[in-house]
Amino acid sequence: MTLEGFFPATAMPDQDWWTALWPDPMSTLRALGIRSGMTVVDLCCGDGYFTAPMARIVEGRVYAVDIDPAMLEQARAAIEQAGANVLDLIRADARDLAELLPGKADYVLIANTFHGVPDQSALARAVAAVLAAGGRFAIINWHPLPRADTTILGQPRGPKTEMRMSPEHTRLVVEPAGFALEQIVEVSPFHYGAVFNLIAADE
Ligand SMILES: C[S@@+](CC[C@H](N)C(=O)[O-])C[C@H]1O[C@@H](n2cnc3c(N)ncnc32)[C@H](O)[C@@H]1O
Repeated sequence: MTLEGFFPATAMPDQDWWTALWPDPMSTLRALGIRSGMTVVDLCCGDGYFTAPMARIVEGRVYAVDIDPAMLEQARAAIEQAGANVLDLIRADARDLAELLPGKADYVLIANTFHGVPDQSALARAVAAVLAAGGRFAIINWHPLPRADTTILGQPRGPKTEMRMSPEHTRLVVEPAGFALEQIVEVSPFHYGAVFNLIAADE
């Protein structure tokens, strides 16, 4: 089934190699600065691989957004299994983020998806619109390594080489939406997290 609006090359990976690549998602989230008491959006949450530990860290103030209802069902199960709560599981196109939340968020994470977003600047503007003053936007991306070199469980994994974005490319796309790069965090053998601070709303 093809879902209208689905970002190219962003299908949820198989769990065997995803777990091998991300053995400790909670530590990854902590390294990116997600803390108890924040209101956090897991944008394009997939099967909840990061959402469940996120909800445990922030104690429930998490909105999980995905376009695929099957992913949201899996996320719901993962969250329940982790004994965590999520404020809302939202079936929507990420580009409509500005219309989805009842209030502002402190942190928006998009993991393993930004490379496939057709208009990345527009998505960054939609994220800026839902963040409270000083809020953060974090993007987990594959490093721009050749796909043949990002081998997990014996096979090359991840998006095509030409879709991968360097930290500098990501910065150039995101900052004009009203952000300043705060830090680049190495978060797996093949990924980085680019963490941005909201400095001004895009007019
Ligand atoms: C590669 S998965 C990553 C899932 C999760 N963030 C992770 O890192 O484990 C990308 C997710 O983005 C979702 N997605 C694709 N296009 C979307 C869109 N336009 N709006 C919201 N979600 C979308 C897919 O359904 C999929 O679950």
